[in-house]
Amino acid sequence: MKKAILIYYSRTGFTEQYVRWLAEMTGCPAASYKDARKMELEPYDVVIFASHFRAGYIQKLRWLRKGELRRKQKIILATGAAPIGSPEAKRQIAVSIRDEGLKCPVFYLESGINYEAMDRGEKLMMELFRRLMSEQESENFLHSHDNSSREYLQPVVRYMRELGVAAE
Ligand SMILES: Cc1cc2nc3c(=O)[nH]c(=O)nc-3n(C[C@H](O)[C@H](O)[C@H](O)COP(=O)(O)O)c2cc1C
Repeated sequence: MKKAILIYYSRTGFTEQYVRWLAEMTGCPAASYKDARKMELEPYDVVIFASHFRAGYIQKLRWLRKGELRRKQKIILATGAAPIGSPEAKRQIAVSIRDEGLKCPVFYLESGINYEAMDRGEKLMMELFRRLMSEQESENFLHSHDNSSREYLQPVVRYMRELGVAAE
């Protein structure tokens, strides 16, 4: 069986939670971005990188173009507060991937907002970012909430099974 590792870059906890669920559902090991940067990734055929949106961009994608990672099979998971199926999220995924010159599948996972876990700079950034949005769009970013669901991971698990990297 091919081997996969799940790597997460999470600031306020949503992305980490999704990866913990996915690890349970697939039996794959998980590591934080900070730890993974110091790890030997040679034994893994597939790298599943979970990160989050900030002002329209999926964070830390550039890392996937570095060294041995460049040649590895990759899957990206992106968390964000935009509703699932949002055309804006689809457009932002396409731009993030194109700008980093990456070609790999991306799954969007709706999460939420966690103001309690943000520092002052992040709260300010959020405030400025919200001013650029329409009133309707900015409502998703106004209060702390959690719309994360294990169900959203089902397509990811199916894809991983097809690749032969997830336990049945
Ligand atoms: C400054 C800031 C900018 C954000 N920009 C976006 C965005 O452009 N699109 C989106 O869907 N969510 C956006 N979010 C919401 C985060 O992507 C969401 O809370 C994500 O799940 C955070 O992941 P984490 O908890 O793993 O850090 C933003 C959050 C912050 C704090």
